[in-house]
Amino acid sequence: MSRPELRLVLAVSLDGRLAAAEGGAAQIGGRGDRRVLEEALAWADAVLVGAETLRRHGCSCLIHRPELLAQRRAAGLSPQPLAIVVSRSGTFSPDLPFFDQPLQRGLLLLDPPGFPRLEPPREPGQQRDPSQGLSKAPGFASQWSCAGWSDALAELKTAGVARLAVLGGASLAASLLAENLLDELQLTLCPRVLGGSHSWLGAAAQVDFAAQGGWRLIEQRALEGEELLLRYRRA
Ligand SMILES: NC(=O)c1ccc[n+]([C@@H]2O[C@H](COP(=O)([O-])OP(=O)(O)OC[C@H]3O[C@@H](n4cnc5c(N)ncnc54)[C@H](OP(=O)(O)O)[C@@H]3O)[C@@H](O)[C@H]2O)c1
Repeated sequence: MSRPELRLVLAVSLDGRLAAAEGGAAQIGGRGDRRVLEEALAWADAVLVGAETLRRHGCSCLIHRPELLAQRRAAGLSPQPLAIVVSRSGTFSPDLPFFDQPLQRGLLLLDPPGFPRLEPPREPGQQRDPSQGLSKAPGFASQWSCAGWSDALAELKTAGVARLAVLGGASLAASLLAENLLDELQLTLCPRVLGGSHSWLGAAAQVDFAAQGGWRLIEQRALEGEELLLRYRRA
């Protein structure tokens, strides 16, 4: 595949909400969800997180379980997957605890204002430089600037990202489903009914026709705390 494999990983309420009606930094999942979230992180080369989720939570999720850390070490992987923030504006407070977390950080500027639509001519065989014309945002070891998902995912694959866990929020999930780019949905159903407008895809989401059906259940697992893991893959 010319792009990484993408797995969306979310904790959702029984009524499909990602956050409580009042919004804010959602903490829907309990211990069971934490367990399977860490398993997904251990699987991934990188995680993708929406800028708004990062702003609200201040930090990214880390693997803590020793056996998962050992598994990654044995596979020659870094302890934590690369944490890539998706943003159009590229604006973050430098005081976020994220910038002190023990992980590698990447910034994916997708269709940022002023992004050159017409690229300068390239020599035969010369690769496009995704950071061209951009000053590096402080705190991020890697930075990509791309016109859309197709370019962005190809750049990430070239950078060695084969398995990508998408950690939300709703806007990020919606923009990927609009282009039928998710290969797997890993949802933890949590025993809460929240109401409000924060469904896990957002009310205005437009899902690509091909992504509307054809999901195959590959795992269902009862978790502690009355939670249920559901994993669906594209057929
Ligand atoms: N229950 C869960 O498992 C879970 C998981 C994650 C988040 N959440 C909750 O979800 C809420 C946040 O979700 P959200 O939908 O408001 O925000 P979000 O998806 O986290 O972030 C939206 C921002 O990400 C950037 N972005 C997303 N898609 C983009 C695209 N295609 N192109 C360019 N930039 C893009 C933009 O950043 P800029 O503004 O920088 O341009 C956009 O404003 C919070 O309440 C959070 O707690 C829950």
